[in-house]
Amino acid sequence: MALKVPPARIVFTPEQRREILARIDEQLQSGQLTLGKYGQSFEAAFAKFCGRAHAVAVNSGTSSIEIPLRVLGVKGKDVVVPTNTFMATAFGVWHAGGEVRFADMDPATAGLSLKTLSKALTPKTVGVVPVHIGGTVSPEMPAIADLCRKKGLWLFEDAAHAHGSTLNGKHAGTFGVAASFSFYPTKVMTSAEGGMIVTDDKALAEQCMLYRDQGKQSFTANVHDRLGYNWRMSEPHAIIGLAHLSRLADMVAERRRIASWYDESLKGIGGIRPLALPAGSASNYYKYIALLEAGIDRVALKKTLREQHEVGLAGEVYELPCHRQPLCASQYRPEDFPEAERFCASHVCLPVYNGMTQAEVGLVTSALRAVLGQRKGASR
Ligand SMILES: Cc1ncc(COP(=O)(O)O)c(C=O)c1O
Repeated sequence: MALKVPPARIVFTPEQRREILARIDEQLQSGQLTLGKYGQSFEAAFAKFCGRAHAVAVNSGTSSIEIPLRVLGVKGKDVVVPTNTFMATAFGVWHAGGEVRFADMDPATAGLSLKTLSKALTPKTVGVVPVHIGGTVSPEMPAIADLCRKKGLWLFEDAAHAHGSTLNGKHAGTFGVAASFSFYPTKVMTSAEGGMIVTDDKALAEQCMLYRDQGKQSFTANVHDRLGYNWRMSEPHAIIGLAHLSRLADMVAERRRIASWYDESLKGIGGIRPLALPAGSASNYYKYIALLEAGIDRVALKKTLREQHEVGLAGEVYELPCHRQPLCASQYRPEDFPEAERFCASHVCLPVYNGMTQAEVGLVTSALRAVLGQRKGASR
């Protein structure tokens, strides 16, 4: 069924589509289809956008975590990861040979805090991977970076959600030694598939480039001195990514405008309230997170919104925290993660996409008002 408001919409303007097709045609003619000039332009432009010296384009957000962690060295060591993240954060650590220590989340930001991180440290911890959930950079990031410096740990940001998000004007991806981004289609910007590593450390960037191309000492010689893989980004992917990147600032500004419409409309609706942004944190609104009052059945709410109002909510961040995933549930006790348990069970993500109109936001909020107004004890 086509919905009046879908959970997400991936938008390329007609000009962007024309430019993408022309550039792909150019590369088809030249035969330069991977690790070429558009990949390099994408890297340079993304590094500039974030305010980092170097960027390395790869084939996914997941590999943009694994590769730098291989360089940083995690074999046999512990890495702190928030339990409230996509499993790819943990997969990056495990595939690089490290062990994951899940930490609980901060209810104010849905990410790590100094307190939750401190509790998860072990004598074997070498680094920390905060995740800017939904696009929110925690105001505790500078303090987390300080703690890491004092303890001799590296800080690596999983910024898969946070293209263009800032804390007091400082970009996501600039708080630690390096950071990763995802360009999966539903992200704030996409290259169809892809990821980017950003860092100011030239040696680290060079190492990442070697890993991404099968661990070869150079592009042209088949001499391998490390366990790499094919993590390359193709030229068509880079061309698509460049098109979105050229409009990223405007796309983020538009998402913020849409979020402000929700902020206003939700004030008058019982049973639901926005997860308020902490002072200084400017989200890119990859997700617009709203908290449901205790007792509201999220599954039933989403079903009614979809079936009776043709409104699809976006996926949660996250429905099931990592410590609850079947892959790791036997090793963890849910009571050790009380904040994530509560948050994961009781929030929703309202649709936000470029091109969303105020009328579409109105459809979502009037549907919420209608459904939530029918719950027991709701004031009418
Ligand atoms: C927090 C987080 N980390 C990592 C990833 C992995 O990115 P990709 O799907 O591009 O491999 C995602 C993607 O959805 C994510 O949400």
